[in-house]
Amino acid sequence: MAVACTIGGCTDKPERVEKTWSEQSVENAYNQIKLEIDTIEASGKILNPVTLKKNGEVYYCGYADWRSGFFPGSVWYLYELTGDNTLLPLAQKYTEALDEAKNLTWHHDIGFIINCSYGNGLRLSGKTGYKDVMIEAAKSLCTRFREKPGTIQSWNVTGNSWQAQRGWECPVIIDNMMNLELLFEATELSGDSTFYKVAVSHADRTMKEQFRPDGSCYHVIDYSISDGSVRHRHTAQGYSHESAWSRGQAWAIYGYTMCYRYTADKKYLEQAIKTFNFMKDHPRMPEDLVPYWDMDAPNIPNEPRDASSASVIASALYELSTYDNQFDYRGYADKIMKSLSSENYTAKLGENGRFVLIHSVGSIPHNSEIDVPLNYADYYYLEALKRKMDLEKGGKSLSEKE
Ligand code: GLY
Repeated sequence: MAVACTIGGCTDKPERVEKTWSEQSVENAYNQIKLEIDTIEASGKILNPVTLKKNGEVYYCGYADWRSGFFPGSVWYLYELTGDNTLLPLAQKYTEALDEAKNLTWHHDIGFIINCSYGNGLRLSGKTGYKDVMIEAAKSLCTRFREKPGTIQSWNVTGNSWQAQRGWECPVIIDNMMNLELLFEATELSGDSTFYKVAVSHADRTMKEQFRPDGSCYHVIDYSISDGSVRHRHTAQGYSHESAWSRGQAWAIYGYTMCYRYTADKKYLEQAIKTFNFMKDHPRMPEDLVPYWDMDAPNIPNEPRDASSASVIASALYELSTYDNQFDYRGYADKIMKSLSSENYTAKLGENGRFVLIHSVGSIPHNSEIDVPLNYADYYYLEALKRKMDLEKGGKSLSEKE
């Protein structure tokens, strides 16, 4: 209940003020995630929820899983969005449980892990120890930089791994764009430009090799480590090598918008807009703007949607709207978010394993996580809500430091 001002002056009689859809969305997310926090706290352990298993139980991951930073990050965003101080020590505890991740060098996802958890934690709590973790993690990520391709290698290719069976040597996935944020931040925190240079090299080579003339992107580019040439243009999680895997398009839109934030290099902004336009103008983009898992999947409209792609795109567009005004990016993001906030995609309280959003897809080719909740769909949904509210408070650009 809030005290409202009516026409003709303030009354002291409390009046019920209608919540906006975004306020209601924050409240729903808060209530749902609080239930998960209560479950975790009652267990006496530090658990990190990711998705629902086929048997309906919540799957909890360890620190090395690429998705381990999203739940702590979601708690940071909820703390920020609601001002509930009881969430602060919990966000800190869940974040600090990932400390060991700063030393990960066997995959590229340390950027997702550390930036979503410690990055938000540093922004919101200013703990100096978090800065050291960010810089250490950026150093670990840079060990995966390969000189000849000029990129960070995403996945290792070892023994009889599925990556080896695909015949790859140095696979780089479009998702890797998201890990560059850690590097840009590390340069800002340390003053060491090495991280920035690695990020720019990776972004430039990816822009050259990973995109098609229509603005859509491949999922995997496999490079030669010895001479840097492209060996394959493939997919791992999409329908086919030439198809448009929706989350890949989402990572590209978000990744190049973020690169523009740190570099002010217009070519990155143009790439983000081109890939967004590909999705926006796609003849198979559904009316509610929540993409199919792959825009070339064979049985559209009877294919699963992917709420995670939608939330990543919405969050990216709120940022993009502060850099370019040729299109109403903010209005488009609002439309996505209203769809996600509807009962079509938002779970009822206590259902859906206590995740906020329903209807995401992990990887159909791997027959894994099909039409389930995913913690990264929730994370980017909360981030989008936070960005929307910042814009409403005065149009603060993300390039302005908080
Ligand atoms: N980074 C893996 C994915 O987007 O599914």
